[in-house]
Amino acid sequence: MTATRSARPAEGTARKTRELSPQPAAATVAVRPVRLGDLDQIVTLDARVTGLEKRSYWQSLYRRYGAPTQAERQFLVAEAGGRVVGFVIGEVRDWEFGSPPCGWVFAIDVHPEARLAGVGARLLSAICAGFRRAGVRKVRTMLSRDNNLILSFFRSQGMMAGPFIPLEMDLES
Ligand SMILES: CC(C)(COP(=O)(O)OP(=O)(O)OC[C@H]1O[C@@H](n2cnc3c(N)ncnc32)[C@H](O)[C@@H]1OP(=O)(O)O)[C@@H](O)C(=O)NCCC(=O)NCCS
Repeated sequence: MTATRSARPAEGTARKTRELSPQPAAATVAVRPVRLGDLDQIVTLDARVTGLEKRSYWQSLYRRYGAPTQAERQFLVAEAGGRVVGFVIGEVRDWEFGSPPCGWVFAIDVHPEARLAGVGARLLSAICAGFRRAGVRKVRTMLSRDNNLILSFFRSQGMMAGPFIPLEMDLES
């Protein structure tokens, strides 16, 4: 789910999935704040995409980001035909890395059978609208450098390489 994750071969390719399964037209998809009753489907969707079930993690994210009244923290779902077909999570972070407040998208997932129908674009557009309401004029994300799928997606939406580089090291015990 996180933006550092690589695409996994177990999912199959999105384009192959489109041939196998009918997709919701973007127009029939509603984007709305997450509800507690969505969590099971989100856990299942994330487990399908990542191969790991992380129920307590999702419950914790729901508690932190699930309040629909705060524009600074957003957890949105795309719903079609009564089921959750995708979600996006992000927040406004103030002065991190010396940068003026900006929106960060740190998770976006669309159900493999609902991809390539504009759902991801709708989710990103909705969270960006929320960031604008929160007063910021820049959105950032981070992704695994070998995840060409998510890179293609974000590039298609207008995102470009930013001014920061990630650094890391192992911590000895
Ligand atoms: C990336 C992802 C969110 C895109 O969702 P989606 O609903 O299929 O995206 P859209 O239909 O809105 O596509 C918008 C654009 O993204 C690009 N894109 C999407 N899927 C693509 C693919 N498989 N190959 C190439 N470009 C692709 C295209 O430019 C597309 O525009 P087009 O349909 O006019 O060509 C979805 O594939 C996904 O959940 N991937 C796996 C999860 C993941 O790795 N998440 C990122 C870590 S947080």
